[in-house]
Amino acid sequence: MLLFREKVPADWLPKVMANLPAVLVDHAHLERKAATSALNIEKYRDLYSRVEELNAIAIEELQHFQLVLDLLKRRGIPFGQPHPSPWIRGLMQSIRNGERFQAIDHLICMSLIEGRSCEKFQFLAEALKATDVELANFYASLVESEGNHYATYLLMAKAIDESETERRMDFYLDLDAKLIRQPSALPILH
Ligand SMILES: [Fe+2]
Ligand SMILES: [Fe+2]
Repeated sequence: MLLFREKVPADWLPKVMANLPAVLVDHAHLERKAATSALNIEKYRDLYSRVEELNAIAIEELQHFQLVLDLLKRRGIPFGQPHPSPWIRGLMQSIRNGERFQAIDHLICMSLIEGRSCEKFQFLAEALKATDVELANFYASLVESEGNHYATYLLMAKAIDESETERRMDFYLDLDAKLIRQPSALPILH
C-alpha cells in the first residue's frame, strides 16, 4: 500500500532502540501535532465538506497522544520539549502557495508523515517483541490507524484534483527519498 521510493535507513532502528525514553517523548509530540494538523487543514475551502471526518481524525490522534502520555507516566519519563524534525520541515517547506495547491500539498505531506509512521511503528513493534512486550503491543496497535490516516489524506487530496495530486506525489516521493537519506543523530521518530 505504501508508495515510498527509499527504505528507512538501516541506522534508524538501532538509533531509536537506544533512545527509547526520548523517542517516546518525541512520539507524544508527534501525536499532538497530528491532532492539530487535522484541525488546521479545516481552514481550506476544498475541505469544508470533510470537517467532520477531520474532527474524527483529530480526536483519534488526541487519544494516541494521551496513550503515549500515560505510557510516559507509567515509566517515569518526564514530558519534555519537542525536537524539530528536519525530514518533516523539509516536506512542509515545499508546500506551495495558492489555496488549492496549498491544500493538496499539505494533505500529501500529512499523508507521507502518517505513512512513514505506519511503516516505522511496524518495525518498532517487531524489534521490541523480544525486549519490551508492552511497547511492542502498543506500537502494533497504532499501525492500522496511522495507515488509515495515510490513505484518507491521500484520497482527500485526490478528491480535490486527482491528476495534480499524482503529479505532486511524484515530486514529494522524490523529496522524501532525498530527505530520509540525510543522516540524523536526533532521538526522534522522523
Ligand atoms: Fe496517531
Ligand atoms: Fe495518524
